[in-house]
Amino acid sequence: MCGIIGYSGPLEARTILLDGLSQLEYRGYDSAGIAYFDSRSQIHVVKKTGKVANLRETFSSISDSSHCGIGHTRWATHGGVSDVNAHPHHAGQVTLIHNGIIENYHSLTQEFQLEASLVSQTDSEVAARLLDIFYEGQPESAIKQLVNRVEGSYAFCIMFNDRPGEIYAVRSVSPLVAAYTRAGALVASDLTALIPYTRNYFVVPEHHIVKLTGYKISICDPDGKQVSPEMMKVNWNTDAAMKNGFPHFMLKEIHEQPEALKNTILPRLTKGIPDFTDDQIPDELFLGCDQIHVIACGTAMHAGMVARSLLEPLLRIPVTVSIASEFRYEEPLIDEKTLVIVISQSGETIDTLAALRLARTCGSRTLAVVNVKGSTIARESDYVLYTHAGPEIAVASTKAYSVQLAALYMVGCRMALVRGRFTGEQASAFLAGLLDVIPAMETMISRKDEEKNLVTHLLSQHDTFFIGRGLDYAFSLEGALKLKEISYIHAEAYAAGELKHGTIALIASGVPVIAIATQEHIFSKTMSNVREVKARGAFVILVTQEHASVDPDLADIHIKIPDLDDRFTVFPIAVVLQLIAYYTSIGKNLDVDQPRNLAKSVTVE
Ligand code: AGP
Repeated sequence: MCGIIGYSGPLEARTILLDGLSQLEYRGYDSAGIAYFDSRSQIHVVKKTGKVANLRETFSSISDSSHCGIGHTRWATHGGVSDVNAHPHHAGQVTLIHNGIIENYHSLTQEFQLEASLVSQTDSEVAARLLDIFYEGQPESAIKQLVNRVEGSYAFCIMFNDRPGEIYAVRSVSPLVAAYTRAGALVASDLTALIPYTRNYFVVPEHHIVKLTGYKISICDPDGKQVSPEMMKVNWNTDAAMKNGFPHFMLKEIHEQPEALKNTILPRLTKGIPDFTDDQIPDELFLGCDQIHVIACGTAMHAGMVARSLLEPLLRIPVTVSIASEFRYEEPLIDEKTLVIVISQSGETIDTLAALRLARTCGSRTLAVVNVKGSTIARESDYVLYTHAGPEIAVASTKAYSVQLAALYMVGCRMALVRGRFTGEQASAFLAGLLDVIPAMETMISRKDEEKNLVTHLLSQHDTFFIGRGLDYAFSLEGALKLKEISYIHAEAYAAGELKHGTIALIASGVPVIAIATQEHIFSKTMSNVREVKARGAFVILVTQEHASVDPDLADIHIKIPDLDDRFTVFPIAVVLQLIAYYTSIGKNLDVDQPRNLAKSVTVE
């Protein structure tokens, strides 16, 4: 999604803006631009398709100083990838950057007869031109008129020709954080652009207008009243958003998983069982529900699928998993007795946020499992269980998935205990099993050459299948997504027992099938399915526990994870599947951390 940065202060603005945009590259983009006041208080706009590095080269020969400006990385929604569609957009007195979607831009274009003046195909330029119409020398008044007319999601940063040194920001749904720092005033889409300058920040309150100048930040609420921000503190260190010697953020974050699990689990253990006192999550939330509804997108939804396979047999209540973009347009069968768990690494995914809001209108109690402190989903949920993975920069989610699972396993354990499904000893044994996954993951990380060597069998493939049963099927969903999103190979996860109902027609000689068989009670059934695909020429990559007894002719490659309680095998397997995807992408010389078309946080519909 688009990246936004604004700066006003004593330092060289262009450098700060370009550095900030570099920090925001992980969000995914196709073009970049900045606008700044020069030493004569004239606004300049420089924008182009391509990487931030290309933009930076443009300024290598410019000597004039600048102390105020805004910058943007664009992930195209309305209008193709082109220089003219890149932000900032300049319209009369106004220069504007935008993250989000103006849903009524077409009707506004007609109502205000903007067609003739538009030079781009973007909804954002419509907002800029509309604001210019409203602007009569009073920024706040004009911005209020703009936000009263636009519908949809937005984070705007705005400069006015006659207001040198001033930046205005306003948001609805799309994220913005800000801080007054030793370097000056900063506003950005997320913390990674603020971290080099400060550890204290605030989330821009929705529909409030923030004014940044070189000497202070002021906020006025929708009624025009000056308000003070709710300050927050960054909960990770500055180099967490750096590669620290790894070739890619994704590999770094795969390696960080054991530490991330420790940071998420250990602070919440009291006498060996989960304790959410410090999270202010009461047991009454777990006692008072008669069903659980998990809602998320992508990898987070896959974590929900694993949780469902674990929680439903454990708690003996219905556990449903919904794709947020579907749920939000349904008439869900949930009520005040439903515990809705929304899962989101970024805490800003617009579909998950909309689903959360719908669930609350149905009277359901909501618990968010989120990795970014103070994010919109965290703030709008009744309760929040923060994961402590640190910033996840690679678009492909890895450590966030593992800590989401750990959080969900702990919730399941606490629920089982308070609902009498676990005795204290059983709860303690369960948590001990959860902690056992940490060395198991470290083992699989140390064996990463196994995956590095096997991907040669995938590089030239167009299709790959992941199969499993029960929990193994839930794991396979994530394995398929990982491979697809960073290697661009079509990958499909399939319930192993379902293959015979059609898809096995696609299994031919050399087609890779990654079979996951770690669940003892259905192991032989899964192995039967492996035989079926092997008999049709599949190249079988089999993943089992160490102790599994397997016919050596059955698997072309056999990866063994350390023996664990079947309920916990997802964690080392996640490492295996992440590494398969990572090394396949590397083998195809693709952009692992910023795959094509993808964004780290999907803040538009
Ligand atoms: C997974 O690798 C992708 N990055 C994507 O599916 C992601 O999990 C999804 O967009 C949800 O994001 P969230 O967890 O920030 O809500």
